[in-house]
Amino acid sequence: MNKKYVSPIDQSPLRFEKNQFVDSKGNIFPIRDGIPNLIFPKNLDKSDLESIDWYKKNANCYDDYLPMTFDTFGVNEDEERQKLIDALKLKENHKVLETGCGTGRDSEKIANQLNEDGELYLQDISEEILKIGIEKLSKKSFKPHIEFSLANGYFLPFENNYFDRVFHFGGLNTFGDIKRAFTEMVRVCKPGGRIVVGDENMPVWLRETEFGKVLMNSNPHYKYDLPLKHLPINARNVKLEWFIGGVFYFISFDVDNGEPKANFDFKIPGERGGTHRSRYYGKLEGVSKEALSLVNKAQKKSGKSRHDWLEDVLKKAATEELEKKK
Ligand SMILES: C[S@@+](CC[C@H](N)C(=O)[O-])C[C@H]1O[C@@H](n2cnc3c(N)ncnc32)[C@H](O)[C@@H]1O
Repeated sequence: MNKKYVSPIDQSPLRFEKNQFVDSKGNIFPIRDGIPNLIFPKNLDKSDLESIDWYKKNANCYDDYLPMTFDTFGVNEDEERQKLIDALKLKENHKVLETGCGTGRDSEKIANQLNEDGELYLQDISEEILKIGIEKLSKKSFKPHIEFSLANGYFLPFENNYFDRVFHFGGLNTFGDIKRAFTEMVRVCKPGGRIVVGDENMPVWLRETEFGKVLMNSNPHYKYDLPLKHLPINARNVKLEWFIGGVFYFISFDVDNGEPKANFDFKIPGERGGTHRSRYYGKLEGVSKEALSLVNKAQKKSGKSRHDWLEDVLKKAATEELEKKK
């Protein structure tokens, strides 16, 4: 059994026992029909339970009905999906995670781009749909090592920085915690790695058109907002595009460490002066209008910038005050 999985609760190692994984705190993750069930939490969000329920009833016809979405817009499914895969910028030896892989419609394309050194982890929260994916993919031969498991896209059973690429398409809108899903994708992705996610979204400027209203009536998922506010602070080179008739978005970004860096410390020329940092951190209490007008006059006369004048005057006054008290 695969040793790469860790506890989705706290990333502690998993012990493999007969037909189950057990984490350091004794939590059990059963393995049924060779598929580890690493879904956490046990009490899932209502929205995830609804997804599980929907796919339990509809997994068998998912592949029959899905092409309709592409036909509606007269676009070719393979070509549209390839745009997503291209955004991943895959290398043959990459370790790739796909969450919410469904019946494997993108998984196959990803697997075809990896070689024997590559690894592909395919996960879904619905057992019924994952089993269809497994059956379909196991009829074909692929070069990379492929692993399937049941898991929640926002509690990933992997250690930090394991993957080169993380991919998700089609389920994010209904994830019970979208922010956590992004945090988790970034956690398991190496710095320098890349993430691509997408789902339905009727662009706001089309919502009042016939095009928008008719489509949102048939599929209310088009009404979901873009998840931009959930993007992690270490996302760089973020690109947002719409495809499949312009009603599905995909976001691609590179993963870096922490916040973006910038130089806050050079002197800014001009009347106000100061640096970005001193302007932000050096704010003082307000003063009366009269005092402000005097300050402005004195500062202008001095020929210094406002920041430099204040810095000098306040330092001088503060030093004198402190010396008085000694
Ligand atoms: C519309 S399907 C897309 C499947 C596949 N990615 C595709 O493009 O055909 C959405 C998938 O997301 C899965 N899903 C929904 N909520 C999930 C969650 N919290 N964690 C992981 N997968 C989830 C569903 O079970 C379903 O297979």
